[in-house]
Amino acid sequence: MFEKLENLKLKFEEELNDVNSNDELEKVRVEFLGKKGLVTEELKNLRNLSGEEKKNAGMKINQLKSYIEKAIVDYQKVLEEKEYQREIEKSERYDYSIPSIKEIGTLHPITIVQKQIEDKFKTMGFIIEDGLEIQTEYNNFEAVNIPENHPARDMQDTYYLENGQILKTHTSAAQNTIMKKYGAPKPGESLKVLFPGRCFRNENLDASHENTFFQLEGMMIGEDISISNLIYFMKVLLTEVFERDVKVRLRPGFFPFVEPGFELDINCEICGGSGCPTCKHSGWLELLPCGMIHPNVLSMGGIDPDKYTGFAFGLGLTRLAMMKYNIKDIRLFNSGNIKQLKQFIK
Ligand code: DAH
Repeated sequence: MFEKLENLKLKFEEELNDVNSNDELEKVRVEFLGKKGLVTEELKNLRNLSGEEKKNAGMKINQLKSYIEKAIVDYQKVLEEKEYQREIEKSERYDYSIPSIKEIGTLHPITIVQKQIEDKFKTMGFIIEDGLEIQTEYNNFEAVNIPENHPARDMQDTYYLENGQILKTHTSAAQNTIMKKYGAPKPGESLKVLFPGRCFRNENLDASHENTFFQLEGMMIGEDISISNLIYFMKVLLTEVFERDVKVRLRPGFFPFVEPGFELDINCEICGGSGCPTCKHSGWLELLPCGMIHPNVLSMGGIDPDKYTGFAFGLGLTRLAMMKYNIKDIRLFNSGNIKQLKQFIK
């Protein structure tokens, strides 16, 4: 009896070894555990036994049954793994006889504009900083004067990570860290920093809204920095990018981290000002919000607002690239469409 069970076990193991698919596995299961399966029959045969013998045999058969059940479940995982390996092998099969395609890469249009501005600002003494993309809520909001429950947070809904950190909604998120890193400038000197970066917002996508976009922020802090410094640098920036005179307008704008705050709009280059979907039919595009850094923001950054002033601007880099290259739909930038992007090779 026990020898028979031992042989059944060996037979099962041999057959299982040859199984290559779920169907085959099911066949083996039925053969051993099905209604008329080999193990099931053994259980049925128990009725011919009695007493101690029946008890011992019953125990052994049930042990074998459980062993087979577990082995089948385990083998299913082995099959999944085999299937996975087969898929990988398939995808790694190259045809080395195909001639290679010479595809020369190009800088992304946003990178081109970013570098252009960085180069110009470096010559004017600006340091280039690289802000983090994953930020604390403190840096992104509180430190730039947007406390919890402030309505400005509604407009900057973003992606929250499980650890409570967020994908930054604007480059201003780096202001506090930068102020703390460099501290107040020495007498007669100023702190000038440029910090471009990728930003994220929970947006409804259309021709002018993306959930991922680039900004370029700048800051200048010193003992007597004024709005004239701000206007001067903004003009330099736009002349540099467009390499010609562009029409701009300045209007008051509210941002919790600047006081006073401004919106510098640029005439829509796509429609020439007559109105199109990109400029929401207004003829103008908000391009350069800016202002004098709010005293709260300076003091949170460890800089004495009674002694120092400064300006900040947050340029919509993606939008600027759209203007410069006459790109009508913001979604093109993340599309990876090489035909479109190649036009910008310098
Ligand atoms: N952080 C603002 C935004 O994304 C842009 C901005 C406005 C930045 C004014 C500034 C500023 O530095 O002064 O909406």
